[in-house]
Amino acid sequence: MRCDNGALTENLLITGASQVLTLRGRGPRRGNSLSKLGIVKDGAVLVREGRIAAVGTRAQVETRKEAKRAEKLDVGGRVVLPGFVDSHTHLIHAATRAEEYELKIQGASYEEIARKGGGILNSVKKLRAANAEALKGRARAALEEFASYGTTTVEAKSGYGLDVASELKILSLQRELKSEQRVEIVSTFLGAHVVPAEFRRMVDGPERYITLLLEQMLPEVVNEGLAEFCDVFCDRGAFTRAEARRILSEAKEHGLTPRIHAEQLSRTGATQLGVQLEAASCDHLEQVNASDIQALARSRTVATLLPGCDFYLGWKNYAPARKLIEAGAIVALATDYNPGTSPTVSMPMVLSLACTQLRMTPAEAITAATINTAYALKREKRIGSLEKGKQADLAVFEVEDYREIPYYFGMQRCWMTMKSGEIIYMRD
Ligand code: NIG
Ligand code: FE
Repeated sequence: MRCDNGALTENLLITGASQVLTLRGRGPRRGNSLSKLGIVKDGAVLVREGRIAAVGTRAQVETRKEAKRAEKLDVGGRVVLPGFVDSHTHLIHAATRAEEYELKIQGASYEEIARKGGGILNSVKKLRAANAEALKGRARAALEEFASYGTTTVEAKSGYGLDVASELKILSLQRELKSEQRVEIVSTFLGAHVVPAEFRRMVDGPERYITLLLEQMLPEVVNEGLAEFCDVFCDRGAFTRAEARRILSEAKEHGLTPRIHAEQLSRTGATQLGVQLEAASCDHLEQVNASDIQALARSRTVATLLPGCDFYLGWKNYAPARKLIEAGAIVALATDYNPGTSPTVSMPMVLSLACTQLRMTPAEAITAATINTAYALKREKRIGSLEKGKQADLAVFEVEDYREIPYYFGMQRCWMTMKSGEIIYMRD
């Protein structure tokens, strides 16, 4: 917490939680262990200089010497849990695509719209025309909204620039935002989102674009230290499995960890490619088959499900979450915040969809959106659970029982969000 002069208070004692969901124990979680929230009733958390100094029952924590001197924050019977880690977003974009939303409702499919130059290419046109300050302002406002729903860390992909200058612009803006606001941003280079319009007119356009990506974009991204991960949209109308293999292998040689948009529109084999390349995650997975599920279950690659997309696009074929969990895959949940398939920053809404549409239990959904997403971003030792020594990243919800977090949908129940001990959102 910050004092009036902006300095971090030394000690803060959070008490009065009806439940503290600690998520204690080793990450990542598979199978039955997804259900173990490590709940402490009448719980308390002691924060010291942005980190968690103790977690336990009020009686246990209050007896500590530092607790007596600490500033107190009584959360009045609400539920405290780790801040959500949203491991898949397309944070920086210039505008909505509300006109396409209407076309979709009238019957046009996502892919039809994309083939006519709409979809991702529509967002690329708008981003290239936008000035940096406007892009940053939009992203800053979105980050404030992420915080207001309990999210403390977001992954953010480039991918609406698709030329050297615009891709670097997006990633540089992300770097600037990292230093000026409090939600943590993890950057991913997604130059391989689709082949941009100017290359589609050429017979060997995809090949030429990939050459540009590998010879000019990737080295600059790496030299400037602008991204930790590299992603490819491997699907019908985007990049083939062979192209994805080439791009991600080279990115890996340059020190970026692969992740991949896999089996969203069609089954391409992207999941098994991701597993072979030891990708941090394979995301979407609506079209996976039994052998893809087995491959994920035997691997350390996270299966990230994005039910917001299926909901928004009005699709009925949600990813097979139960089969993935039962097989033993590391299942995670994220928003996929983007203007074309998932315009939401709300992790609580994603949890509601995970429960009603993916048949995940509230406990499984919470684990999938905290410690498992932290693992998908290689940050599970620092965030994703409330344990001694970890960063004090937490959310407080206006509920008495954690199951009410997904139970309410489309409602704002987040009461407070804290990042590294600092309050970044507080409901009036
Ligand atoms: O994750 N699938 C590819 N990328 C985004 C959609 C981007 C867009 O339509 O603008 C996704 O769903
Ligand atoms: Fe995406």
